[in-house]
Amino acid sequence: MATTEAPIPVRSPLPQGLAGQTAVVIGGSSGIGLAAGAMLASLGARVVLTGRDKARLDAAVERARAAGSGAEVLGVAGDAADDTAIEETFDRAGTVDHVLLTAGSMAGPTPITELTRDAASEAFEGRVWAALAAARAAVPRMRAGGSITLTSGGLVSRPRPGMTLIATVGGIETLTRALAVELAPRRLRANTVRYGMFDTPLARGALGAGADPAGDEAVAKAGLQMPLGRLGTPDEAASAVLFLMANPYMTGEILTIDGGQGL
Ligand SMILES: NC(=O)c1ccc[n+]([C@@H]2O[C@H](COP(=O)([O-])OP(=O)(O)OC[C@H]3O[C@@H](n4cnc5c(N)ncnc54)[C@H](OP(=O)(O)O)[C@@H]3O)[C@@H](O)[C@H]2O)c1
Repeated sequence: MATTEAPIPVRSPLPQGLAGQTAVVIGGSSGIGLAAGAMLASLGARVVLTGRDKARLDAAVERARAAGSGAEVLGVAGDAADDTAIEETFDRAGTVDHVLLTAGSMAGPTPITELTRDAASEAFEGRVWAALAAARAAVPRMRAGGSITLTSGGLVSRPRPGMTLIATVGGIETLTRALAVELAPRRLRANTVRYGMFDTPLARGALGAGADPAGDEAVAKAGLQMPLGRLGTPDEAASAVLFLMANPYMTGEILTIDGGQGL
């Protein structure tokens, strides 16, 4: 384990301090990851986006470039649960300051009596192994002061019947704390953002809402059930990530942003 005598560097904790740094967003072709990638590019960070669907990834790279101020935006297509793809992503990224992992989907409700080992293994690989593999590949390439940000959701504290595989997302929160203590001697940090419901393609899928006006209406209706009267936006979700990346004194934290949905 590489350690350093020097404390973590003091630098601006404002998002503007991310200018000139390199961030890898695994799951950066849609929703929260894409919003974070575009914001990072707009701040002058070099950004590497990943996702499985190449066409969607290419469109995301274009969007982040358009939001940016000329710093490089790179797309590397691949599955977050595939070790070779993850290694290739970090080889292409080179020296890295920050990693965000938003890749992940959640299977629909399945009663425990119908749960298969294959479904459980797939959920574990797509969430927990993907995070472990990303950290394993990233850490040797990271500069002091850098951070890994993982993703969790409100179902972790308020699960619904049939959602036992949410245990894999709960595992991400425990992993965050384990990474934070292991990586602190390298002056690297690990945090997780726990999200309520945000208006992304994933949430629209869960609501059965498309990207059309009827879908907008369904999202607005769902939002009326929320304390603040609407779902969160991808930018609101992404800004929590930028806070965790930029603030050098944040580590081991599970930061909830849910517009009061957990209350
Ligand atoms: N939106 C919400 O309301 C909400 C609430 C709680 C938690 N979350 C969590 O927040 C994270 C981001 O959600 P989102 O709403 O932004 O979802 P999203 O719009 O569906 O975006 C997910 C991104 O991850 C990529 N991805 C998915 N599986 C992948 C894999 N195995 N390997 C590589 N890339 C993969 C997707 O691209 P490809 O499909 O092309 O690979 C896409 O770029 C997820 O982990 C989700 O569970 C979201």
